[in-house]
Amino acid sequence: MTLQEYLAEADAIERDGLAAFNGAANADALEAARIALLGDRQGRIKALQEGLRSIPSADKPAAGKRFNEVRTRLTAAHGARVGAVAARPASPAPDDLSLPPRRRWHGAKHPVTRVVEEIEAVFRELGFTIAQGPEAESEWYNFGALNFPPNHPAVDAHDTLYLEGGGLLRTHTSPVQVRTLQRYAPPIRVLIPGTVYRRDFFDASHAPAFHQIEGLCVDEGISFVDLKATLNRFAERLFGAARTRFRPSYFPFTEPSAEMDVQCGVCGGSGCAVCKGTGWIEILGSGMVHPAVLEAAGVDSERYTGWAFGMGPSRIAISRHAIPDIRILYDSDVRFLEQIAE
Ligand code: PHE
Repeated sequence: MTLQEYLAEADAIERDGLAAFNGAANADALEAARIALLGDRQGRIKALQEGLRSIPSADKPAAGKRFNEVRTRLTAAHGARVGAVAARPASPAPDDLSLPPRRRWHGAKHPVTRVVEEIEAVFRELGFTIAQGPEAESEWYNFGALNFPPNHPAVDAHDTLYLEGGGLLRTHTSPVQVRTLQRYAPPIRVLIPGTVYRRDFFDASHAPAFHQIEGLCVDEGISFVDLKATLNRFAERLFGAARTRFRPSYFPFTEPSAEMDVQCGVCGGSGCAVCKGTGWIEILGSGMVHPAVLEAAGVDSERYTGWAFGMGPSRIAISRHAIPDIRILYDSDVRFLEQIAE
C-alpha cells in the first residue's frame, strides 16, 4: 500500500468513526460502533494498524503518526459519547397496560370535623348562625354568669384547668351563650362549635381537650315545645328516622333541664356494645335558659325566654363508626382514618 492510499484510508476511517460515535443514539448503537471501529478483532483501527506493515520503510513514520492521530481521536470520540447515551433507554419501554394504576393518596376530613359540619348544616337550615368565643375564659363567664354556686364541684381545680393570673380554659362552650346575649339583642339563634378543656385523664372514654357544640335560642314566647321540636328535627336529620327520648336532668344554667338520647343506630335499639346494652345513645344536655343567666347577661327575663343545648360531636362520631377508643380520634393515624373516610 502506498502512503497516499494509506492516508486516504485513514481519513475515511476517521470520518466514518466520528460520524458513528457522535451520531450514536443509544448505548446499543454506540457499542456496535465501538466494535466496528475500535474492536480488537475486526475493528477498522486494528486493520489500519496492520496496514502499517505494508508501508515502505521511508513512509512508515508519516503513516504511523497519522495512524496514532486517528486512533486517539476516535477513542476520545467514543469516550465522550458514553456518558451522553447512558441515560437513554435502548428503545422507549412500551406502556404495560396490565399494570395496576398507581394508588393516589386522598386526604379526607376527620370524622369529628364531618360531624361538626353536618350539625352546622342542619342548624343553618333552621335559621341558626355560627358564633365563637375564646378558649381562655374568665371564671365569671365559665361559671358565675352561668349560675354556678361558688362552691360547685365543677369549679374545683380537680376538674378545671386554671391559668396563671386568674383565668381558666373553658370547660364547656356555654360561656359563649353569655357573650352572645351581651352582644346581640334577641331574637337570637346561634350555634357555637369549639374546643373545651377538662382536667381528665386521657383514656378510652375521656380526653383533656374535646369538641362541643352549643346551641342557643332566645326570643319572646320561646317554650320547651320549641326545644323539643327543634332537637327532634335535628335528630331526624342527623340520624335518620331514629327515635329520641328526653330525660330530666340538672344544669345550673337551665331550668328545667333534659338530656336527649337517640335510639342506637348500630343495634336499632335492641342493645349492643356501642350503646352499652341500653339501646340508647346520650347525645346532648339541654334545657330552658335559667332566668339568672339572662339577667347576668343583661337580658330582661320577664320579656324573653330561651332554650339551649350542648353536645359532644366526638361521641356522635364514636357511635356512628362504633369506635372502641376515643384516643383513635386524636392519633391522626391515617390507617384508621382511611377506613372511615368518605
Ligand atoms: N354545658 C353543658 C356541659 O358541658 C351542656 C349544656 C349546654 C347543657 C347547654 C344544657 C344547656 O355538659
